[in-house]
Amino acid sequence: MALLDGKTALITGVANRWSIATGIARAMHAHGARLSFTYQGERVKDEVEKLAAELGGAPSWSCDVTSDDELRRLNDAVARELGRLDALVHSIAFVNKEDLAGKVYDTSRSGFSLALDISSYSLIALVSALKETLSDGASIMALTYLGSGAIVPNYNVAGIAKAALESIVRYLAYDLGERGIRVNAISAGPIKTASSRQVKGFSGMVDAVAAAAPLKRNVTADDIGNAAVYLASDLSSAVTADVHFVDAGYHAMGMWMNA
Ligand SMILES: NC(=O)c1ccc[n+]([C@@H]2O[C@H](COP(=O)([O-])OP(=O)(O)OC[C@H]3O[C@@H](n4cnc5c(N)ncnc54)[C@H](O)[C@@H]3O)[C@@H](O)[C@H]2O)c1
Repeated sequence: MALLDGKTALITGVANRWSIATGIARAMHAHGARLSFTYQGERVKDEVEKLAAELGGAPSWSCDVTSDDELRRLNDAVARELGRLDALVHSIAFVNKEDLAGKVYDTSRSGFSLALDISSYSLIALVSALKETLSDGASIMALTYLGSGAIVPNYNVAGIAKAALESIVRYLAYDLGERGIRVNAISAGPIKTASSRQVKGFSGMVDAVAAAAPLKRNVTADDIGNAAVYLASDLSSAVTADVHFVDAGYHAMGMWMNA
């Protein structure tokens, strides 16, 4: 059953085929959505255009979320090409590598600002830029991680940025609720991607989750894509301001033992 027939979607954050956004794009395309993409500059343009061509010849535009000009141009392009937007996927984060190891108290002011600007404020910036093109009843979703509300060694300022992002999700849900627009976060379990590999000891995190999670496995970008389809579809029509865990149940563990 195609759950997204007739819906348009803008997907941010594809860098390569391992990106979570790639899994989301494939799942949304399989469910009939008409896709569009943004990419962060020339470095990833080819990769995104290749995926866009595979997935129905979707349009794609450069949009570095730190640039108000690019955000403005993005809204014009989306309005021109798609007319209206039924789903918006925020799958963007950046933290300096030196801030993904060691002590949080060593985080510089500039590293903190950069992390929060790109990983958290960018959701506000995107929604602000696109608010007139988002259709009433649209669905917005952002990718988050367990390290927002619990200590995950080395995740450090990335966790602080995710706490802000989840709070932004709730406030935007309130702002946009009167238009029937829903805003949620998907909290994904650890998946090997270009970004996650920057976290010191990331492979150990992946192994720990597979050993301890109720489902005894890790999640894939396809698992996240399936949840994103549900959140973009009318099946989740009364779900908003939520953090939806797609992590094989790991978040619910309080203790685990070998017994
Ligand atoms: N991989 C994981 O284990 C995991 C777990 C939970 C949540 N997440 C979140 O999922 C999202 C996607 O990350 P990923 O793991 O797929 O890694 P990724 O490296 O494939 O994607 C990160 C994306 O952010 C984009 N980006 C960075 N700075 C940008 C800027 N200034 N403007 C526009 N785009 C910018 C990059 O171009 C890239 O496409 C992130 O929010 C990440 O925190 C990842």
